[in-house]
Amino acid sequence: MGDMTSIESIPEGASRRIVVLGTGGTIAGTAAAAGDNVGYTAGQVAVAQLLAAVPGLQQRCEAGWTIESEQVAQIDSKDMSHAVWRRLAERVQIHLDRPEVDGVVVTHGTDTLEETAYLLQRVLAPSKPVVLTAAMRPASSTQPDGPQNLADAVTVAGLPGACGVVAVLAGKVWAGAEARKVHPYRPDAFDAGDAGPLAHVEESRVRRLREWPQGAPLGLQVLAADIWPEVQIIVSHAGADGRVVDLLMEAGVQGLVVAATGNGTVHQDLQAALLRAQSAGVAVVRALRGGSGCIVPTGHDLVPDAGALTAAQARVEILLRLLSRRA
Ligand code: SIN
Repeated sequence: MGDMTSIESIPEGASRRIVVLGTGGTIAGTAAAAGDNVGYTAGQVAVAQLLAAVPGLQQRCEAGWTIESEQVAQIDSKDMSHAVWRRLAERVQIHLDRPEVDGVVVTHGTDTLEETAYLLQRVLAPSKPVVLTAAMRPASSTQPDGPQNLADAVTVAGLPGACGVVAVLAGKVWAGAEARKVHPYRPDAFDAGDAGPLAHVEESRVRRLREWPQGAPLGLQVLAADIWPEVQIIVSHAGADGRVVDLLMEAGVQGLVVAATGNGTVHQDLQAALLRAQSAGVAVVRALRGGSGCIVPTGHDLVPDAGALTAAQARVEILLRLLSRRA
C-alpha cells in the first residue's frame, strides 16, 4: 500500500445496491436499561431493524439506492464458529457474484471481528468492497454508535473503486487483515498497529490514505472441510513450561501459535517443547503477545514469526494454510 491521500465520494444521483448481512454482536445487542452499556445481550435485534435506525438511509433509498438485508447468524461474536465463518463467506461470495451488487456490509461483534475480517480477506480478496462494521454500545443504549457506523459502512460499500475487506468503526476505515480490537469499552476501540487507518469517513466522504486491500484469494473451497484442523494459541510468560504443548500434542494438535514476549521471544522451557512439536510436523508460529509493531527477525530464529499479525489472526493464517493443503 503506497502513501497517498484521496478524497472520494459517491456521485450525486448515483444508484447503488448494497447487501447487508447480519451476524449479531453488540450492534444488535439490547440491555434491560437504556443506560446499561455493559450488561447487555449481544445479537438480539434483526439486521433489517438495525437498518431502519441508520441516519440518512431512507433518503438514500429515495434517491435510488437499494439496500437488501439478510440474517446470516445472530450470535455474540465470542462464540464465532468455523461453521458460521463458512456460511458467512459463502453468502458474501454469492452476493458479490451478482453483477448488480456494488458492495456487501457485514454487521459483526467487535470481539472476533479481526479474525473474521482476516479470514474473509484471505479467502475472498474481493474485487468489490466487503465492509465489516460493529458497535461498542448496544442498540438499546441512549447513545448507540451502531447507526452511524452502519451508515459509514454503507457509504464505503457504495464507493466506486473500493475493494477488499475493510472494517469501519468510529469514522475510521481499517484494512481487514490489519484491524485489531485494542480497547474493551471505548467506541474508538480499533487500531491497526504501525499500519494505521486506511481511510477516514467524514460526512459521507472518504479521505483515503492508502490503497484498498488487494491480494490473491485462496477461494471458498479452502473452507469446505467438515472437520477443521486443531490450531491452538498458547502464551509465553514468566514460569512458562512445555507441559501444555505436550498435552496438546497428545490431543492431536496440528498448529500452534505462541503469543511471545518482547521481539518474539519465548521462555526456554516452552521453546524446547515447541521445537519438539515443530520437528513432529506441527505448524508452529510466533506472534506478539501484545502491543503494536512487527516481530523483527534476528537471523537465527528457530520458529517462524507472524510479522504484525495478532495471535488470533496468526491462528486463522495457520488454519487456512493447513486447510489449503487438504483442499
Ligand atoms: C460481540 O463481539 O459479539 C460482543 C461484543 C461487541 O460486539 O462489542
